[in-house]
Amino acid sequence: MRILLASSEVYPFSKTGGLADVAGALPEALVKLGHEVLVVSPWYKTLKAKNPPLWIGDEWVPFDNHIETCGIGVLEQNGVTYGFVGHPYFQRDSLYGYSDDVKRFCLFTRAIPQLGARLNFVPDLIHANDWHTGYLPMLLEHGWHMPEGYVRKPSVFTIHNVQYQGNSSLDETLNWLRLPGFLRDSYMNYFGSANAMQAGLGFADKVTTVSPTYAEEIKTTTYGYGLDGTMRHISDKLSGIVNGIDTDIWNPATDRYITQTYTAKSLKKKDLNKQALCQRFKLDPSKPIIAVVSRLVDQKGIDVFIDAATELLWQDWNVFVLGSGEPALEAALSSLTARNPGRFASFIGYDETLAHLVYAGAESLAIPSRFEPCGLTQLIAMRYGNIPIARATGGLVDTISPSETGFLFEHLTVKGLLWATKVARDAFDNTSFWQKMMKNAMSKDFSWERSAKTYVDLYQSITGIEA
Ligand code: ADP
Ligand code: GLC
Repeated sequence: MRILLASSEVYPFSKTGGLADVAGALPEALVKLGHEVLVVSPWYKTLKAKNPPLWIGDEWVPFDNHIETCGIGVLEQNGVTYGFVGHPYFQRDSLYGYSDDVKRFCLFTRAIPQLGARLNFVPDLIHANDWHTGYLPMLLEHGWHMPEGYVRKPSVFTIHNVQYQGNSSLDETLNWLRLPGFLRDSYMNYFGSANAMQAGLGFADKVTTVSPTYAEEIKTTTYGYGLDGTMRHISDKLSGIVNGIDTDIWNPATDRYITQTYTAKSLKKKDLNKQALCQRFKLDPSKPIIAVVSRLVDQKGIDVFIDAATELLWQDWNVFVLGSGEPALEAALSSLTARNPGRFASFIGYDETLAHLVYAGAESLAIPSRFEPCGLTQLIAMRYGNIPIARATGGLVDTISPSETGFLFEHLTVKGLLWATKVARDAFDNTSFWQKMMKNAMSKDFSWERSAKTYVDLYQSITGIEA
């Protein structure tokens, strides 16, 4: 099959979170299964690539009542073709966080079929991800000036996070996208304003999210962020497919970013990574480390972790946090670091290389999420023999087996979190039990192969194309 996958971020070229990991790894897994994949994402100023994309020319994109010029970049890597949409909108310091974000990603969405056509890529199916490309299924169905081979193409829309929906004005959005006015009364309309996520839910042939538990949770008011009614309405076409991880990038046996590589058979060697982490951040190496690797945002429950921090030290854990995000959380972590030398340390920022050392060096990873569509950090942690302690929500429930590969707790309160960390801390003192857990965790298969096959089954169910 020929699949066009559209995403606002894709590893290794751009990344703020797990969406990039998925858009980087799923296409490679699909190629291994014999499919042809074009991944389309913006050509950011901050694009990270060994060799920059090859600029193959400009395309005219119908947008906002005029024709906008977008540069087209291409490169190939591991059998996947990557197409990049270049425009001054993406020549900024960050990927997101601007008042015109919806307009920027409407231009991106509008440019996707044009880019595909320029590369002579006629897809059998288009796979859009999150609100940034939420309007793509609607555009395929109703868009004017669409290139040949793109009109009414089957589509899949994947929800990675329902909290971010892309809201804007109805009339402006229809103008940006060059879409007919009657769509004002369609799924794009959320109580009088335009909602990119809801448009994706309504117009795609199939909707997926990144774990079966989250697929159920988003039908409830607690987790639906106002779209629970829509989720219930489209539930016949909604399913959950759990993410994998790139097991070449995340492999303790070959990892170039860690101090000492190791396997389940040479667990002693893992200690050298612990020592390196402790040395760099001046932590006392005699105690187990409970770590966090996370965006510092409300979703991740870091506020609760911070409130529990002092008691975590009393439970005889050392703490290490790698994260960036909300300034108040960053400040609270820096203050805990200053007040607890040797016991609590943090690195405020985004650091890919350090993340590898933290997964390898820490004994445990705390993931106190309010909601977690899938979560990748627990999968990476387990692969490194690092035991996750996580809130029982979303993909965390679907991927962690309590007391076998990790620990789960129900209530996101200081008490709930500390209950689980205490159980884990006691388990850590039982060396043979803990080692067994490490081995269990490391032996789990979190590769993309199985999930990629599930996506292929789904693609086949709507295209009717066999293999
Ligand atoms: P989300 O996408 O909601 O942020 P995931 O668990 O799906 O959560 O994915 C997070 C990804 O981002 C993981 O690959 C994790 O290692 C990485 N990550 C998060 N914060 C940082 C950071 N400060 N430095 C380096 N990597 C980070
Ligand atoms: C989102 C979710 C996270 C998920 C990731 C990739 O960022 O917050 O749980 O793992 O997308 O699907």
